[in-house]
Amino acid sequence: LPPADVVAEVTASGLRGRGGAGFPAGIKWRTVADTPGSLKFVCCNADEGDSGTFADRMLMEGDPFTLIEGMTIAAYAVGATEGYVYIRSEYPDAIRTVREAIAVARDQGWLGEDVLGSGVRFDLFVRVGAGAYICGEETAMLESLEGKRGMVRAKPPIPAITGLFGRPTVVNNVLTLASVPAILAGGAAAYQALGVERSRGTQVFQLAGNIARGGIFETAFGMTVEKLINTYGGGTRSGRPVRAVQVGGPLGAYLPADGLDLPMEYEAFAAAGAMLGHGGVVVFDDTVDMASMARFAMEFCAEESCGKCTPCRVGAVRGVEVIDRIVAGQDPDGNLALLGDLCELMTEGSLCAMGGLTSMPVRSALLHFADDFSPRSPRSPSGPEGRRPR
Ligand SMILES: Cc1cc2nc3c(=O)[nH]c(=O)nc-3n(C[C@H](O)[C@H](O)[C@H](O)COP(=O)(O)O)c2cc1C
Ligand code: SF4
Repeated sequence: LPPADVVAEVTASGLRGRGGAGFPAGIKWRTVADTPGSLKFVCCNADEGDSGTFADRMLMEGDPFTLIEGMTIAAYAVGATEGYVYIRSEYPDAIRTVREAIAVARDQGWLGEDVLGSGVRFDLFVRVGAGAYICGEETAMLESLEGKRGMVRAKPPIPAITGLFGRPTVVNNVLTLASVPAILAGGAAAYQALGVERSRGTQVFQLAGNIARGGIFETAFGMTVEKLINTYGGGTRSGRPVRAVQVGGPLGAYLPADGLDLPMEYEAFAAAGAMLGHGGVVVFDDTVDMASMARFAMEFCAEESCGKCTPCRVGAVRGVEVIDRIVAGQDPDGNLALLGDLCELMTEGSLCAMGGLTSMPVRSALLHFADDFSPRSPRSPSGPEGRRPR
């Protein structure tokens, strides 16, 4: 297929980015293809920092050639000659496996100056992150790839136009790129046939937390959270009732037990004030303390913030303090109102989704588990260990 037809096929398949934002891959590719430039890049985001996620790791360790093939197809489609796989340092086996696979691919002529004698030039390199959650945000990842501290860049310009070293760049998640060979082999229509609404194809859901059978489950979009957890995951490992489920990593909403009939699909989640993210599903039983989980969201943001903008850098620290005051019984009404204001400010005023989405788990905990924010005695510790089963 000519490059433009490859882009058209990926667009027609309905493939959306699996890294979290769900942006249509074909539109991103077309932007890079249409942007003039003698040097373009394809960067694979394998930072996989979300809690309870490990699908990228499984793919890189188990089937690295699918990723290499997907990146090569992307490069051909947009006219890129160099690619980088940005892998978190916590994944030593994945780093070694992908490096070995790249060496094999070069030896076989699947990468290099003349890919399979086609005249296409594309080579691939692994770069290792240094343990910062924010380096999974695409612009911070590009900074890190350039050898700089992982700080978020303001958008625009978007990476598709001004990306790595200022050049047009495709940034896609591992699973997005690894879906491409199957799409081109089976055709866009076959991929479109799977899934529901605007969530087409399959997603590799990852079951973690308090779950009897954790692991990855690849299925078409549309299965309910409840079915995924109970039918495939076998319920909680502790045998106690499910109380909350966090989908989409540390910035995802907490769903209550009576809200698990939600189909795994981007728009249904958005309508419920939640997000699918990278497909991580973390299960909690009825011993979980949701005020401490809300506090953890703020604490996580304070720890992982790149520090560039005030609502996130300062807001997250204030968020921890205000939740502590609420559970300590200090002016609960005033502090709950303050927490609501703070969440709004972080959502509206943060430069990137790190600060912007931290309010999602906090607000969902407040909405569905308001009782957990009631004052507790100074001797009863907060946190999962300190909570009495209901
Ligand atoms: C704080 C933060 C962390 C992120 N971490 C990751 C990550 O670990 N892996 C990933 O693929 N995308 C991550 N993303 C999303 C990327 O910014 C970007 O949307 C994605 O890599 C684009 O690829 P896709 O369209 O294939 O999903 C993160 C975003 C934010 C705001
Ligand atoms: S929201 Fe947080 S992580 Fe994002 S740019 Fe602002 S300070 Fe950095």
